[in-house]
Amino acid sequence: MHSLKRSLLIGLIVPLLLILPAVAAIQYWLIVTPAKAEIDAQLGDFALALARFIHEEGGMVSFKITAQAERLLLTDQSDKEYFLVLDPAGRALAGDEALRDPPLRVAPDEWQFVDGVLHHHRLRILVFGTPCGAGVCQIRIAETFIKRNQVRTDALIATIGYSLLFGLITIGVMVLAVRRSLAVLNQLNAHLLAQNPHELSLWQGEPIPKELAPLIAAWNQLLFKLQESHRAQQQLIADVAHQMRTPLSSLKMEAELALLEPHPPAVHQALENLNRAADRAARLSAQLLSLARADQGLQAVGQWQMVDLKTVVAELVEEWSRRALVQSIDLGFELESALIYANPSLLIEAIANLLDNAFEYAGAGSVVTVRCRVAGYRAFLDVEDNGPGIPAEEHARVWERFYRAADTADAHKDASHASRGSGLGLAIVAEIARRHNAVAEILSPQTGQGTRIRLSFPAV
Ligand SMILES: Nc1ncnc2c1ncn2[C@@H]1O[C@H](COP(=O)(O)OP(=O)(O)OP(=O)(O)O)[C@@H](O)[C@H]1O
Ligand SMILES: [Mg+2]
Repeated sequence: MHSLKRSLLIGLIVPLLLILPAVAAIQYWLIVTPAKAEIDAQLGDFALALARFIHEEGGMVSFKITAQAERLLLTDQSDKEYFLVLDPAGRALAGDEALRDPPLRVAPDEWQFVDGVLHHHRLRILVFGTPCGAGVCQIRIAETFIKRNQVRTDALIATIGYSLLFGLITIGVMVLAVRRSLAVLNQLNAHLLAQNPHELSLWQGEPIPKELAPLIAAWNQLLFKLQESHRAQQQLIADVAHQMRTPLSSLKMEAELALLEPHPPAVHQALENLNRAADRAARLSAQLLSLARADQGLQAVGQWQMVDLKTVVAELVEEWSRRALVQSIDLGFELESALIYANPSLLIEAIANLLDNAFEYAGAGSVVTVRCRVAGYRAFLDVEDNGPGIPAEEHARVWERFYRAADTADAHKDASHASRGSGLGLAIVAEIARRHNAVAEILSPQTGQGTRIRLSFPAV
């Protein structure tokens, strides 16, 4: 996959790696050239000093130097030095005869440098012409390459070391700069990943780089449109569910009336089925309405306020105790004060769905308990029953819309057992929990067998 970071880094680092050797070569040349010139100049100074020892008497040229002066001039700390003085006729006046090669002619006061070999040493030879008598005497002075090689080695080490250091630091800085500049993409990425499809939030990271501003603006526009269309869909569902209530209740009323009227036994079963189907449809449309309302959250009915979970649950006690009596269920409440920020009508809806499931699936003779309390920074609401429980492999899926556990769906397919459910109850609970920043989870019940569903809210 194409990586912006990689192409930026390649675009920066490859040219740097190409330029760096060229820069290093120039740097090496700049160090070595003056140093070599300096060493050559020293050789020139020696030649000039030696020239002073050439004497001319009555047309006879001679070279006289004391051993001390010779030592003084020709002793070097690292290199070996040699010299040769030739008279205008080419006879050696003093020095090392072997320096005669290569034969060269120089004008008076002219310098020439040549490379040569003497006693197996490579030599740098300076040939200097100095006027003597009627002609030109040659002073040849030679030196081994030790100093020169040392200069080269030092320059090489310095250049390579400097280039490596410079290269590494520059590459490090480039990597950091590219990373820093692209960090905003990671932020954008994290923002996208954190998006909740029910509640898209616009990107407000600061500061936005100029280059990304159009992208982020377009992105925000898209989010805004999605939000709008999601809201419109929810509104449509809510409206349809609301509009269906009247025809559905008249359908049910008519079915009930028909059942009360004398009717042929052949149609009795049909009327019963019709009545139940109207019931189911009414319940489904009520559920869709509450799901849409919970999804719309803030526009939902009722106010958001500080409430005590205990008072909210207390509102359900009377109605559900009556139902428990009818269905022979042992319903108990263990309520402690727990202050949370909530929308009471949504909360009641959620608890009612949990109780509905407990009654439905645990069935007659079972024990159902509602608990609430505070522990640490969380407020808990548990609805527990000692029914068949939800198999662990279904735990994740039962929260999905229109999902019913396999057993339930099978059992209720049987026409004799009227199926009321459509798999929306827990989805509504999950949506309401999400609206409250609460966690909805299935725990193992205190009594061992059964179902315990817990909503844990941030406590105030
Ligand atoms: N207390 C419970 N005991 C056993 N199984 C449960 C319990 N609560 C939920 N379930 C399982 O989870 C599934 C999903 O529950 P949910 O309330 O979402 O849908 P439903 O009860 O089937 O239909 P609806 O609630 O829409 O009438 C149920 O079909 C059932 O299998
Ligand atoms: Mg249910």
